[in-house]
Amino acid sequence: MKKVLGLVVILSMMTVMFAGCGENDAVADTGSNAATETSDTESSDAAQEDTTEANDTESSDAGSDSIVVGFSQVGAESDWRTANTESMKGTFTEANGYELIFSDAQQKQENQIKAVRNFIQQEVDYIVIAPVTETGWDTVLNEAYEAGIPVIIVDRMIDVSDDNLFECWVGSNFKQEGYDAVSWLAGYLEENGRTDEEINIVTLQGTIGSSAQIGRTEGVEEKMAAYPNWTMLERQSGEFTQSKGQEVMESFLKSYDDIDVVIAENDNMAFGAIDAIKAAGRTCGPDGEITIISFDAVQAAFASMIDGDMNVSVECNPLHGPRVDEIIQKLEAGSSVDKLQYVEEGVFPAETAAEIMPTRAY
Ligand code: AHR
Repeated sequence: MKKVLGLVVILSMMTVMFAGCGENDAVADTGSNAATETSDTESSDAAQEDTTEANDTESSDAGSDSIVVGFSQVGAESDWRTANTESMKGTFTEANGYELIFSDAQQKQENQIKAVRNFIQQEVDYIVIAPVTETGWDTVLNEAYEAGIPVIIVDRMIDVSDDNLFECWVGSNFKQEGYDAVSWLAGYLEENGRTDEEINIVTLQGTIGSSAQIGRTEGVEEKMAAYPNWTMLERQSGEFTQSKGQEVMESFLKSYDDIDVVIAENDNMAFGAIDAIKAAGRTCGPDGEITIISFDAVQAAFASMIDGDMNVSVECNPLHGPRVDEIIQKLEAGSSVDKLQYVEEGVFPAETAAEIMPTRAY
């Protein structure tokens, strides 16, 4: 039924066996021992070519009935992304009837395009993409379409000329997340008797051109139009990373001495912003001068709220592995799937953090 990665799997297993305990542990931890990993540095390009050659010549060692999934992941820029990778690797295991070829794009779309071409060459059964940015997918998805390989988009959305180029999408309503952030802020200011105050806001944006950035930025902008006393002083990208979030916040603090609210388009950038605020001798959180609004609601965000640093985190759920599995199983059974599948998400303010944190799965 399926093209198999026999020799590659053996080579991967030998690499793991000779790589020492630490790396062995890492493979076991992710539950990904059936996965072939590629990343898109210079040297890994060579590895990918080797992988393809080996696959072209070898027959199955890992079970010819397994479903081969090529997954192009954005990178490892945030806690959210780590949880998402773990969810995918923990789902697409040999025990569940899959072979996973995992490719880390290191936040670069060109690496994703190379990975998708590689998956096509290897004649995988399904291509799953968590796209870095929305645009730029038409050509490579046409190639997958011509090869007859279904493409499932996960997490962020894509913007293509023909929606037939992908089977379906599952992910978050990022614009709604932006709306939720504004609703929370309006309610918070009201509770604190600050409805009529001039409120100055700065935003740490995610990777420009990603759905998570576009949706959250637009959602906030659209909804805050109803509050003429709120001013967006500046927006800048912190690329969804803690270090860049800290760097951008340091520059905001130098430029403006009257920041009331920071909107960080993910938790990791919020952690960086909090570090910058403290290093500047300023305070934040429910009892501080600067209100911190964030997105994702990873466990570390709950810890930050419990510590009194963050005010709220709007949830973005990364546990897509089982959702993509369900889609693939339906397609295998010949059933249709909904084209767009939104995940339900909540809003978690600091006062709920201690109670909610023990229940969080990521
Ligand atoms: O696309 C989801 C976003 O990507 C998450 O908010 C962020 O943490 C991640 O890097």
